[in-house]
Amino acid sequence: MADGYREQVSRNQVRFGAIAQSYAGGQARRLQADLLAELIRSLDFERALDMATGTGAAAAVVAKAGAGATIVGVDSSIDMLRQARAEVSGVRLVVGLAEELPFADGAFDLVLCTRALHQVEHPGLVVAEMARVLGPFGHVIVADNVTGLSGAAHEEFERIQRVRDPGHATTLRENQIVELLRGNGLDMVECRRTTSFRPLDQWLDDGGAGPAEAAEVRRRFAALGRVDDDGFGTNVVVEDGEITGLRQAMSWIRARRSGQIPHGDTGSGTGTPTPS
Ligand SMILES: C[S@@+](CC[C@H](N)C(=O)[O-])C[C@H]1O[C@@H](n2cnc3c(N)ncnc32)[C@H](O)[C@@H]1O
Repeated sequence: MADGYREQVSRNQVRFGAIAQSYAGGQARRLQADLLAELIRSLDFERALDMATGTGAAAAVVAKAGAGATIVGVDSSIDMLRQARAEVSGVRLVVGLAEELPFADGAFDLVLCTRALHQVEHPGLVVAEMARVLGPFGHVIVADNVTGLSGAAHEEFERIQRVRDPGHATTLRENQIVELLRGNGLDMVECRRTTSFRPLDQWLDDGGAGPAEAAEVRRRFAALGRVDDDGFGTNVVVEDGEITGLRQAMSWIRARRSGQIPHGDTGSGTGTPTPS
């Protein structure tokens, strides 16, 4: 394993180890379960994988929709999986890395990754692994925060997110996620967009930020101020000149593999994209 993402995995293990319990009580419940259920409603699947399952919120939705199907959740954090065991049933939980899935090629017909791509150092490697374990005609769902910022504002926003959560890696643009999927032989089926307001205090608490980190985030946000985005992406909400929270923008993308698996060709388009 390249050191570049070993360190990132460790940062996430520490961070999610510390917040596993509160995550299950808060953020996990804020998954848009109805939307996810709608995205998978028409799909026939017998073997589903939830990558970076955390406390199993998305896996639970899949388990409910796919009676009789085998549902597997994989995550690098033992603490998150311990919490998942207390939260969900009917899901096999496995410790493993999204970059090196412990599963055979084509082992699943539905593969999901919700709210986790921004936590990994090389999202391209993770998407390549999703594609590798997906069988012919299988479906992939990727849901994540996306950015509409660019340049210095984007870089500063990313730094602020790392102050709040040292496990944060990169927020991608929606089209970058689409390109990663396409580059791994997957065809777009649909893309839904959601936005939600996260009060700043709640967002800081969810991230496990202590008083020093919270103060640093507030200071940096105040200096950053309102920034222009290209219309869809996470940004700050400013009221009466003060940043009150975040407008969190998520893209929910469903893609499918049509027909043959391009064996030996899943590495294309897997570099780490940099938002432009
Ligand atoms: C924000 S949580 C999302 C959990 C869940 N998918 C959800 O929507 O509630 C991110 C999860 O990614 C996991 N994670 C981070 N890096 C990982 C990696 N390289 N391999 C596997 N899991 C990883 C963390 O342990 C954490 O449980």
